[in-house]
Amino acid sequence: MIRLDKYLADMGEGTRQEVKRYIRQGRVSVDGVPAGKPELKIDETKQKVFFDQREISYRQFEYYMLNKPAGVVSATEDRTDRTVIELIKGRKRKDLFPVGRLDKDTEGLLLITNDGELAHRLLSPRHHVDKCYFARVEGIVTGEDERQFLEGVDIGTPDVSEQTAPGRLKILKTDMLQGTSEILLTIQEGKYHQVKRMFEAVGKKVSYLRRESMGSLMLDKNLKPGQYRRLTDEELKRL
Ligand code: URA
Repeated sequence: MIRLDKYLADMGEGTRQEVKRYIRQGRVSVDGVPAGKPELKIDETKQKVFFDQREISYRQFEYYMLNKPAGVVSATEDRTDRTVIELIKGRKRKDLFPVGRLDKDTEGLLLITNDGELAHRLLSPRHHVDKCYFARVEGIVTGEDERQFLEGVDIGTPDVSEQTAPGRLKILKTDMLQGTSEILLTIQEGKYHQVKRMFEAVGKKVSYLRRESMGSLMLDKNLKPGQYRRLTDEELKRL
């Protein structure tokens, strides 16, 4: 059960003060009966709420798959840069956040939700969720790099070592003339700049990075950078 004013505010129909006013103005009805009291308790699983004759159904959780473009930050608020949340124009809930962070220049799969439990499950190192990245790398990636990544590499500073867990590296393409490579790297951790620092540890530089998947969730190839869609029921069930 949930208060009528909270119900409407959660669904993005206005601030708590605004929706209280709309309710008192008689613009809201519940099961066909005008509702004058903001504190009226609603069973969100059964009752039907209409605002100006528009049905407002309640969603406790929202789940969006975003193909994050370069140039926006993985944050809910930022004083200088555009955030990934600002890209989700159709959002209802005000408590959405990105599940994990991608660097400002990284593209690809980012889950945006307000489901804290799911986020915790996907991010907690205890749950060993695979994250797969595509990268273009300056330098020729070799079988020796694959072997080193499988053992884990030290991405720390000269003073403090920081060992990664194993990562599975797959070489897709090498261009001997240009001295560049394209790879897929699957890791289960999410240390700061981890993929870039893993390549630095073997003397190479990532020039482009995109996340392809997170657990069972794969980046939808139809989404261009900056585009998003809701998760399907099937994707949600598998997560
Ligand atoms: N590793 C990085 O270096 N950057 C990202 O954005 C994600 C993983």
